[in-house]
Formats: sequence, C-alpha cells, structure tokens
Amino acid sequence: MDDLSGVVGSLYREFYPRRGCGQAASYIPALAGVSVEQFGVAVQPVGGEVIAFGDARVGFTIQSISKLFAFVLAFRGRGEALWHRVSKEPSGMSFNSLTQIEAHQGIPSNPFINAGAMVVVDMLLSDYVDPLDEVCSFIGALVGIGTVGYDEEVYRSEQEFGNRNAALCYLMKSFGNIENEVSRVLSLYFKLCSIRLCCVELAQAVQFLAGQGVNPLSGERVLSESQTKRTNALLLTSGMYNEAGDFAFRVGMPAKSGVGGGIVGLIPGSLTIVTWSPGLNAIGNPMLGMDFMEAFTTRTGLSIF
Ligand code: DON
Repeated sequence: MDDLSGVVGSLYREFYPRRGCGQAASYIPALAGVSVEQFGVAVQPVGGEVIAFGDARVGFTIQSISKLFAFVLAFRGRGEALWHRVSKEPSGMSFNSLTQIEAHQGIPSNPFINAGAMVVVDMLLSDYVDPLDEVCSFIGALVGIGTVGYDEEVYRSEQEFGNRNAALCYLMKSFGNIENEVSRVLSLYFKLCSIRLCCVELAQAVQFLAGQGVNPLSGERVLSESQTKRTNALLLTSGMYNEAGDFAFRVGMPAKSGVGGGIVGLIPGSLTIVTWSPGLNAIGNPMLGMDFMEAFTTRTGLSIF
C-alpha cells in the first residue's frame, strides 16, 4: 500500500467524532473511571516504522491481551503437550463462563477465555521461578524496552472484585486441572491483566506474529512457523471471545481484545494494527476499535481473506 499513513490518518479523522461510544468496563472502579473519550490507533508494517494517531502513546491496562503473551510463552516452553489441558475451540460463550468449564470437566475451550488463561498461568507458575518477571521481560524484549510493569491500583481492584474468576479457578482445580495454589494463580493472572502498555508498544510486541514467528526488531525467533500459524488461527477463532465469528466476518484478521479497550490485530506478512477505545459493547469488546478495524480492512483491501 503506497500511502498507508494517509489512509490511516483519514480513517482516524472520520472516526474521531464517534469517540466516546460504548461503556467503559464497570466491574472494577479502577476501570470504570477511565475516560471513554480517548482513542488511539497504531499501524506498523512488518519491520517498518509505526504510524500513530491520537492517544496511541497513552498507556492503558492490556487486560485480556495479556492472555496472548502468557500463552505464547507457555506454548514455547511446553509445545504440543499444552493441549492436554486446554482445547482450541471457540467457546461461543462469555469469556468468564462457568458453564463451559463444568460441561467439559475442567478443560477450558481455548487459551483466550479467562479459564484458559488461568490454566496457562498455572503452567507458567510450575515452569518458572519468577513467572511475573518472565512474562514482563518477554513482552519487554518484544517491544525493545527491557521489561514492562503493571498498574498496582488496577491489580488491587481486580483482586478485590475477582470472585467470578476465583470461582472459575476453584472449579478447574476441583477437576484436577490446576496444579498450584488458587491464590497464586489468581494473583499472577490479575497482575498480567493489569500490565500497562500503549498502542505503539503493542503494535511492536505482536510484530513476530505477522513475521512468521520472528521479531523483526531483534531478528530473534519467538515461535516456530507452525506455532505462529497455530497462534494466529486461535486468535482468529477465539481472540474476540463470542464475537470472534462476527469479527472474522467484518474485519478478517487474527485479533485479541481486552476490557481495557485495546485490540491488537495483524495481517501475516503485512502489518500489525492496534486500536484503543475504552468504550465497550455488550459482549465486552471495544466498540469504536472494532468498527475502525472493519473500515481499515474494507478501505485498504488488506485482510487475510
Ligand atoms: O479477568 C477479567 O475478567 C478481566 N481482568 C479481563 C477480561 C477481559 O479483558 C475480557 N476481554 N474482553
């Protein structure tokens, strides 16, 4: 695309008047207070310069986008054995559904619903002496900034109001699918949800998924080509929860959302794209970000299909 920057800029200006649509996540006070007026977009061609508009350099808690990084680290370490404890099917249910866990004897449908991410976190707790540091330095290395930090206030809030997540974790433990103490799993899970990054950093962090598993910044191989294909397939089928079908239909790319308002998406061999708009729709996905991405693939003709 010749004038990618021009196209992203004109789309940003078109969507700017709509900022503020949707509702900020309300399950914890620390997120309910975030202004829905904020709107950032970052697009980065593979190995190229980032194109950034609006609040693309303002940090926000990445929430469920952290599930992607935790999964990649665990997948790298455990390989195919990971699939004994978590499936790879879209759940078709809300991201914190208890029914799904009960129906499948403690095996989460995929690594991107809350229960799936907790099983992944449990694996990291078993595999690393300091798993928080491991994930933070892993993300930091992908971004090229050493390490990343988490928001203490959001973390405390998540802990305080985390009863449903605790229920999910205890339910899985009752089926024998959690090895570590539930309190340790929850604490690490909430810290990862509270990691603070901006659109520009996230666009860099997922470049390896658009680059067949190699981080173009460092030249380091993060995942094998096959693992990269699998990760992108999971993002397409489950990254947007029970709206993954709609997102694939409208936008057509692997993506992951978080209730902090971020969406990371990518087109293999082409680019990464990140939006941040804290207003969510009824399913918990960022409303403006989804619409922006749909317009982006429609206008540019770039999608995986
Ligand atoms: O565990 C939770 O419910 C939140 N901290 C994260 C969920 C989330 O981001 C779902 N996203 N769309």
